[in-house]
Amino acid sequence: MSETKGYSATQILLHWAVVVLVAAQYIFKSAISSAWDAIREGRAYDFDPLILAHVVGGGLILTFVVWRLVLRLRRGVPATPANEPAVLATLAHVAHWAFYAVLAALSVTGVLAWFGGVAAAAQAHNLLKVVLLALIAAHVLAVPFHAVVLKNDVMRRMIRPEA
Ligand code: HEM
Ligand code: HEM
Repeated sequence: MSETKGYSATQILLHWAVVVLVAAQYIFKSAISSAWDAIREGRAYDFDPLILAHVVGGGLILTFVVWRLVLRLRRGVPATPANEPAVLATLAHVAHWAFYAVLAALSVTGVLAWFGGVAAAAQAHNLLKVVLLALIAAHVLAVPFHAVVLKNDVMRRMIRPEA
């Protein structure tokens, strides 16, 4: 994969758009969860725009994830900071790819559950949502770790674009 000096404006914009959309999926999850419970128990449920928002939000996330993947493969990503221990560089690499895989799998299992009525897909969706939270926690904790311990400004790379 090619390497660049930094992320492009589009890569940065898509990163933060996905962050906002993912946060909304968790904050407003109850509407689709209750509707799903009602469907499983054969009860009727009232239409709630937040159900539609979850489905559309998930679709948007998948679109942005694929877009980011194409940019990443075509344009590349900046090299790991020089002073990063090899084991942490490998962990970061694995975590970044895991994000792509887990976000795509969440969208696919969501679609299979909601449109296909596949109960196992809903179970997988529920498991993946915890895996995603764990990844996000590790990813976010890495930011102050880089700033304080490694003393490199990795955060700036996701704020200031490089042409
Ligand atoms: C990456 C995108 C997505 C994320 C991060 C996400 C996240 C979540 C979360 C946090 C819940 C709540 C689970 C709970 O604690 O009750 C949930 C439930 C659900 N989501 Fe998604 N979702 C995504 C995409 C989708 C899509 C695209 C669909 C459908 C087209 C979908 C359908 C569902 C359904 C049916 C439930 C209820 C499942 C249950 O409660 O067992 N999701 N989702
Ligand atoms: C849903 C939440 C998040 C997801 C899915 C996510 C995903 C990713 C991915 C896949 C990368 C690798 C670059 C790429 O392929 O485009 C990345 C890089 C980065 N993310 Fe996140 N991220 C999330 C939240 C956050 C948050 C909340 C912060 C800051 C507090 C953050 C800061 C960064 C930084 C600084 C980089 C650059 C790392 C580097 O240059 O090696 N991310 N993120």
